[in-house]
Amino acid sequence: MSEPIISFRQVSKCFTGKDARAAGQFAVKDLSFDVTAGELVAVVGKTGCGKSTMFNLLAGLLAPTSGEVRVEGRDPFRDFAWFRGRIAVVFQGDRLMPWRSAVRNVAYGLELHGKPKSERLDVARDWLHRLGLQGHENDYPHALSGGMRQRVSIARAFAVNPDILLCDEPFSALDELTSEGLRREFVKLVRENNKTSIFITHSINEALQLGSRILVFRPPAYIALEVHTAQATNDDERAQLKQSILAVMTGEAAATDGEQRA
Ligand SMILES: Nc1ncnc2c1ncn2[C@@H]1O[C@H](COP(=O)(O)OP(=O)(O)O)[C@@H](O)[C@H]1O
Ligand SMILES: [Mg+2]
Repeated sequence: MSEPIISFRQVSKCFTGKDARAAGQFAVKDLSFDVTAGELVAVVGKTGCGKSTMFNLLAGLLAPTSGEVRVEGRDPFRDFAWFRGRIAVVFQGDRLMPWRSAVRNVAYGLELHGKPKSERLDVARDWLHRLGLQGHENDYPHALSGGMRQRVSIARAFAVNPDILLCDEPFSALDELTSEGLRREFVKLVRENNKTSIFITHSINEALQLGSRILVFRPPAYIALEVHTAQATNDDERAQLKQSILAVMTGEAAATDGEQRA
């Protein structure tokens, strides 16, 4: 067995602070899991179950209250600077810089790395082409559709050649047809480029299309179910799998397992 590239050990995150509503509440509780290099893991759960908090712990944007987060053997919060270029993120909103053209948005990460201008523009153009955006290199974000802007975000994430891609509901704001096409391309690019990826979604269908492994979260972010999609080999089994994920996500499974209803 190879060492996991990502590991959570009994990780909890409790928010304290001015927001009285949230103070003292656990967003993540005793969360443990490992991810091996080259895996594409989908994390699915209802809104508010702590997915983004887990994501922020992983990306080094938050420190855990207790427990240990390790990425490539390091602490992503303490060693934040070391991870620049090693972890790339894609969010629901494209977070592009409106004053920069598509190609200069994609080149930005390489600019931070001090790559020479011609090299970084070549790499950026290449990634835009791979995402089907040839002819749009010099367009500004406002001139692009939502789907195209997310293509630019994905190109930007791949352009720095990271080890790990973290995605927090990147396609949730797009229509189903657009997101389905992008999902397929994303999976292909992750596989072709031997990346490790964690992809967060609230959609069961999206999770099923993406990952070979699906972690189903319940609040406060813990793994209520782990599914290997390869286990379902026909339509019936896939439908069953979908039903059991839905039951766990909504809490129905816990209710029927745990208590007798008269
Ligand atoms: N910075 C924060 N301060 C206080 N509470 C927060 C903060 N971020 C998230 N929360 C709370 O933690 C819980 C989980 O939120 P989040 O991780 O965003 O869930 P998800 O991404 O699954 O929708 C929610 O109850 C949310 O209100
Ligand atoms: Mg979220």
